[in-house]
Amino acid sequence: MTVLKKSPALKGKENLVVLGTKKTNFSKHGLSPAESNFVLSQAEANPQKFILVNQINRMIFIQLVEEKKSKNALAELCRKAGAAITAQCNDLHLISVTIVDATGNPSAALALAEGMALANYQFLKYRKDKAKETNSLKEILLNVPRLNPRDIDHTRILVDAVYRTRTLVNEPVSFLNAVQLSKEFEAMGKAGGFRVEVLNKSKIEALKMGGLLAVNLGSVDPPTFTIMEYKPKRARNKKPIVLVGKGVVYDTGGLSLKPTANSMDMMKCDMAGSAAVAGAMYALAKAKLPVHVIALAPATDNRPGGNAYVPGDVITMMSGLTVEMLNADAEGRMILADALHYAKRYDPELVLEFSTLTGAAKAAVGGFGLVCMGTASEGIKNKLKDAGETVYERLAEFPFWEEYDELIKSDLAEIKNIGGPEGGAITAGKFLSRFTDYPFMHFDIAGPAFLTARDSWRGKGGTGVGVRLLFEFLKRR
Ligand code: BES
Ligand code: ZN
Ligand code: ZN
Repeated sequence: MTVLKKSPALKGKENLVVLGTKKTNFSKHGLSPAESNFVLSQAEANPQKFILVNQINRMIFIQLVEEKKSKNALAELCRKAGAAITAQCNDLHLISVTIVDATGNPSAALALAEGMALANYQFLKYRKDKAKETNSLKEILLNVPRLNPRDIDHTRILVDAVYRTRTLVNEPVSFLNAVQLSKEFEAMGKAGGFRVEVLNKSKIEALKMGGLLAVNLGSVDPPTFTIMEYKPKRARNKKPIVLVGKGVVYDTGGLSLKPTANSMDMMKCDMAGSAAVAGAMYALAKAKLPVHVIALAPATDNRPGGNAYVPGDVITMMSGLTVEMLNADAEGRMILADALHYAKRYDPELVLEFSTLTGAAKAAVGGFGLVCMGTASEGIKNKLKDAGETVYERLAEFPFWEEYDELIKSDLAEIKNIGGPEGGAITAGKFLSRFTDYPFMHFDIAGPAFLTARDSWRGKGGTGVGVRLLFEFLKRR
């Protein structure tokens, strides 16, 4: 974990990151008048310039920003600048840096700190030379008097939650099978302060979770169903908000084995939805936000072994609805359907479900945003989109027109688990909505959940997408 906290009084020896504008007098922030003039001359050509002033005994990183930028764009510029500065800090073997705000905008400085900390994440569990490869940067200090200490706390908690989420996504199935995933959720509950209950295979059978059990048939490992609950005494909501996350610890496609070359390589990430909702629970509980939230995580691997369910099978789901299974690779919706049905018992105010559900969503928006759709009110949708812009986990809403319902009708059973060649992300969402009777939003994170190339503060591999979005949305509630 990277330390993130308020800095003690400056002694003049610290490595600094100074956030300023072309009007800043940098000689107040460690630069000589000549250095300050140099920086300001750079601002003429590029008002968003980054300059490293190497004073040999300490480094001063200067990031210039334009004052007139919108709040969200400025925050993202600062996060990105922070990620680039983290790379330089590690390159220079620096251990500690102090962020100073000379723009009069404390939230920009906090965004810079957030970007730095998120970019400093590493997953080295399986590396031999851990000590050698570990980033030198250990602490990011904030010398920004106008910052609210609670906001610093929230950012630190979120960074911690995102790190934990990323690590779960990065763990291969050789370690993280469904049982292990549920143990990790229990550990997160202990560390974060929320209740965790794990239903084992016999409980899942007793509940007749037909979808989860069908997907699990091809596996040698049992499924799990994890229930997490955070219920503070001062909760502002009467009915709980329920989160649901896809916990496919590995997706081979089952008997409909993944057809495209290399498309299986990253399929350990298919539990990223469940990791994100657990990460959000952790952050909410740590920050003691006054909101009652329950999270459900159905988990299994999807494999073509033994008695694996076959295309043409009819599955009776927990809700009693029958499903004609025509593609074993459309397994996410099968396990999520039972969780969405299970959620009805809580009479939820709202259900938010996160899943790496379709290649179609990934093809539509790439890694740049989350696809969302659902039956929640316009008011809720706008609040979710606003939160998404703030944390830069942006939402692209897809239509949810009733015509799409036709595409998943089955001749044999009630519905089938694939639609036609068109609107694949939407027919998947439509399938899920058949198991809901409450305001519902589906977030398809197949694009942004796992990146094969480094992208600024999102990093490479598991990104933890969804955690910051959920926290921001629920904080505002
Ligand atoms: N886990 C995949 C979706 C996915 C694709 C996640 C790429 C992350 C990156 C999902 O289970 C799947 O295989 N979906 C199929 C559905 C189809 C068979 C209807 C797909 O999108 O191809
Ligand atoms: Zn699949
Ligand atoms: Zn899948």
